[in-house]
Amino acid sequence: MDATDVETVAVLGAGNMGHGIAEVAALAGYRVRLRDINEEFVRDGYDQIEWSLGKLAEKDQITEADADAALERVTPLVDVEAAVGGADLVVEAVPEKMDIKKDVYAEVEEHAPADAVFASNTSSLSITELSEVTDRPERFCGMHFFNPPVRMQLVEVISGAHTADGTLELVEDVAERMGKTPVRVRKDSPGFIVNRVLVPLMNEAAWIVHGGDATVAEVDSTTKFDVGLPMGSFELADQVGIDVGYHVLEYMHEVLGAAYEPCPLLAEKVENDELGKKTGEGFYDYADGGVDVPS
Ligand code: 3HC
Repeated sequence: MDATDVETVAVLGAGNMGHGIAEVAALAGYRVRLRDINEEFVRDGYDQIEWSLGKLAEKDQITEADADAALERVTPLVDVEAAVGGADLVVEAVPEKMDIKKDVYAEVEEHAPADAVFASNTSSLSITELSEVTDRPERFCGMHFFNPPVRMQLVEVISGAHTADGTLELVEDVAERMGKTPVRVRKDSPGFIVNRVLVPLMNEAAWIVHGGDATVAEVDSTTKFDVGLPMGSFELADQVGIDVGYHVLEYMHEVLGAAYEPCPLLAEKVENDELGKKTGEGFYDYADGGVDVPS
């Protein structure tokens, strides 16, 4: 199978990244199955796609007809067999926990066609280890999108120890058809390239505030103004989900060592379920659609 044979893409996980990836795939013309573990999560993801397509049409980035056609191509599902049966490409975007992902792959392996390619949107976890849960480690790789997928150009395509070149080429071709720029990551190391750089930056920002050396607003305004980041570190943490960054750090800490120790400020936010935009509160408050800047 090569990229021209890919018609149906199953996206597992309808959260922040999953629904964004499903939207990008639908805009590229693929038939998309969007799957999550319950009706509420799937419905929420589907509604977010509808909202985002509406925004793109409102800004004349796509036509109303394109938005309607893309939404038509998305089927929301809870049943795994129905989601992955007949799929050519399965993109997994479930929570950033090794055990959860392994359980999902074990289940998906039972129902997916033998020649389907599996691509994980993991932010940091070992592609090699995940691939070994399946019977197709050579048709398994990382396909790491950035948040929000519909706006961000880059896709890291990560090779595991067993990934065949043809798999990487297929996934890169699919990413290009989605209008993205794939960059191949040869070494399967924690956080790959972008998150290995970016997540410690968010962590360091948290340590600065934790130590009382500066406020959230001071850190964000300074890094935006003078480092030229499009978002401050805390704004970005709220955008990607504080839990996502935290789990990436936990994994990097475990595998790479002490330098990656997650700041307690992040742990506290995760414990309080203040995860950023998706829960309405993180380092900033998004209640009522507005943003309250902390002092
Ligand atoms: N779909 C459609 N519209 C969207 C949207 C979406 N998913 N998300 C936001 N928008 C809309 C907003 O509602 C807003 O609309 P409005 O103008 O009507 O209020 C508008 O887009 C804002 O867009 P602008 O272009 O005006 O704003 P910016 O110029 O600030 O661009 C941005 C927004 C592209 C998100 C920019 O701030 C940016 O590049 N931020 C950095 C993001 C980043 O670095 N992401 C990577 C994080 S790391 C990661 O994801 C890896 C993971 O593994 C941890």
